[in-house]
Amino acid sequence: MELVVKPDADAVGEVVADMIIALVARRPDAVIGLATGSTPLPTYRALAAAVGEGRASFADVRFVMLDEYVGLPEGHPESYRTVLEREALRPLGVTGDRLIGPTLSLPPEEIGPRYEERLAALGGVDLQLLGIGSDGHIGFNEPTSSLASRTRWKTLTQQTRDDNARFFDDPADVPRHVITQGLGTIGECGHAVLVATGAAKAEALTAAVEGPVSAACPASVLQFHPHVTVVADDAAAAGLQGLDYYRFTLANKPAWQPF
Ligand code: PGA
Repeated sequence: MELVVKPDADAVGEVVADMIIALVARRPDAVIGLATGSTPLPTYRALAAAVGEGRASFADVRFVMLDEYVGLPEGHPESYRTVLEREALRPLGVTGDRLIGPTLSLPPEEIGPRYEERLAALGGVDLQLLGIGSDGHIGFNEPTSSLASRTRWKTLTQQTRDDNARFFDDPADVPRHVITQGLGTIGECGHAVLVATGAAKAEALTAAVEGPVSAACPASVLQFHPHVTVVADDAAAAGLQGLDYYRFTLANKPAWQPF
């Protein structure tokens, strides 16, 4: 895993945005997997700034969703489709029809397999943005998720529901169920970019990067991924034993080797 450590969340967002801009410059119709939550917001702001300055265009990019709540009314302000349209797509000048997500109107057991088919029809995901939960989840693959899991219906841990309560008027309104790409599904993306900011993520990030690969910390499965970049701020990276080494390798990164 390549580790990039930056002083703060805005600097993290700039680095991640640069990776995405470079991908889209190489491949204007790239398939990009978007994530929700607070972590990717500085990245989305940096991308929007690049579009405003004429440094990037997302007109031909295809976007896919990592996960989605189950049970919210269509168009609910906190449904992940609505959040991504508001926070990511609209600022990039992209309409919602370019965002592919799970079809929630299907019978529950058919949603995952159908979404897998749609991802496969796109030819796979070139770059998948990932946050990390304080419990070590990626997507909504909570601890004990099979490391080979596919897109499916999941029940959230209470820790995740508590973490996400800030987005809802009443903590009881946080859905209990979600559809999430599985760990096996995420593992098939071309480039996994795991982003972590803030001290609340330090323990989970250390377990993911330096701990054993274990379903107890689902993000640790990324240690098997052939192309993963972890971008963290100082606070999230504070628990990493190998921090000096990661900084050294980054400082000595050969110019020919892109992220
Ligand atoms: P956050 O969520 O970015 O809001 O901290 C991350 C996650 O749960 O994956």
